Amino acid sequence: MFITFEGIDGSGKSVQAKRCVEFLSKDHEVLHCFDPGHTPIGNAVRSILLNKDHMEMDARTELLLYAAARSQLVIEEIEPFLAKGGIVVSDRFYDSTTAYQGYGRELPLDLIVQLNMIGAHELIPDLTFIIDTDIDTAAQRIGKADRLESENREFRARVRHGYLLLAEQEPDRCKLINGDRSIEEICAEIANILQKKMAE
Ligand SMILES: Nc1ncnc2c1ncn2[C@@H]1O[C@H](COP(=O)(O)OP(=O)(O)O)[C@@H](O)[C@H]1O
Ligand SMILES: [Mg+2]
Repeated sequence: MFITFEGIDGSGKSVQAKRCVEFLSKDHEVLHCFDPGHTPIGNAVRSILLNKDHMEMDARTELLLYAAARSQLVIEEIEPFLAKGGIVVSDRFYDSTTAYQGYGRELPLDLIVQLNMIGAHELIPDLTFIIDTDIDTAAQRIGKADRLESENREFRARVRHGYLLLAEQEPDRCKLINGDRSIEEICAEIANILQKKMAE
């Protein structure tokens, strides 16, 4: 089983992914990974993406770097772990590319869908939790509310909207979780959905 956590920055993905790993680790072998990153190549690509000196980075360059990091993560870590019968929990995966580069940066969605399949080696998550949190609440959680310009706010609103559309388009895989609640409430709902899915 391959499970991914998605949502805007500050939505609460990492907290919930960690809880999910703790919950599943009681009875299963679990790999907890994050995209981009985790592999040496992925971490190198991640540091290029996060480097604030690279202000000139073109949106398509960014798109391709994310896909490159993901390809390595799938081949080196995710697929071998799934092949051994383990459960993989990833903090972000290709839905982030659709939401951020597709809806956020407004790159062509049809091309992104194809590139996502290339980068993921056609691996589709079995279950994706989209944590949907108000953009101002999310920004406050990560202490960025004051520094955000209006353009940045609009960008994050487009990303959130993109995630909502993904949840509508793929309701079986993508479970929309209201992130404007306590960590405990969200965690309980996720555990419930997981238990049902594992019983299938
Ligand atoms: N439901 C929640 N209510 C209040 N604070 C939360 C909630 N979920 C996460 N947080 C806090 O918000 C911050 C960002 O959460 P995190 O899981 O790192 O978000 P993300 O990985 O989506 O960027 C952390 O300090 C975390 O403890
Ligand atoms: Mg996080």
